[in-house]
Amino acid sequence: MKNWDELEAECLSCRKCALADTRTNVVFGDGNRQAEVMFVGEGPGEQEDLTGKPFVGRAGKLLDDMMAIIDLDRTRVFIGNMVKCRPPQNRDPLNVEQEACIGYLRSQVALIRPKIIVCLGRVAAMKLIREDFKITREHGQWFQKAGVWMTALYHPAALLRDPRKRPDTFEDLKSIQAKIREICLHTYPQEE
Ligand code: URA
Ligand code: SF4
Repeated sequence: MKNWDELEAECLSCRKCALADTRTNVVFGDGNRQAEVMFVGEGPGEQEDLTGKPFVGRAGKLLDDMMAIIDLDRTRVFIGNMVKCRPPQNRDPLNVEQEACIGYLRSQVALIRPKIIVCLGRVAAMKLIREDFKITREHGQWFQKAGVWMTALYHPAALLRDPRKRPDTFEDLKSIQAKIREICLHTYPQEE
């Protein structure tokens, strides 16, 4: 198995799909490499493409706020994406692009060995939880796959478009907090 530096170097020079032609930067992912909790988005947007960092635009600011509600931040989790290069005009990544890229995510999961994976939005949930995943009906539900607890939240960009989804997301975040308390060892500092 590749180590982190080898994996990152390979990913940063990757040309396995056509998104390589239009990207500015590869967005490898960011956060704690010993995290027990991983968040997985869809793919870089404009700000991410320009900076090489995941979730730094408007949706990213909302993700930071969402994490803060349950005492999480980027030092405690790892944040990645289904595809590491920006799809033009922020369209959904094509299946061929996701297939070309998913090996990097699988290697990241293999290196981190998270206890919990939180899919951000339906694209990640359909690839990682179940092909016919219905985000409207199944967000916040828990699924166990290969010993990892998985759930999905509405994508923060969807919450920006439709604030009526926010109360459900608050409940889903509380459920993630409860699951962390139940099964994680060091994500939250020892609670008094
Ligand atoms: N949306 C995503 O899905 N990922 C990012 O990194 C930024 C916005
Ligand atoms: Fe490689 Fe993934 Fe970028 Fe495609 S999206 S070029 S597979 S890193």
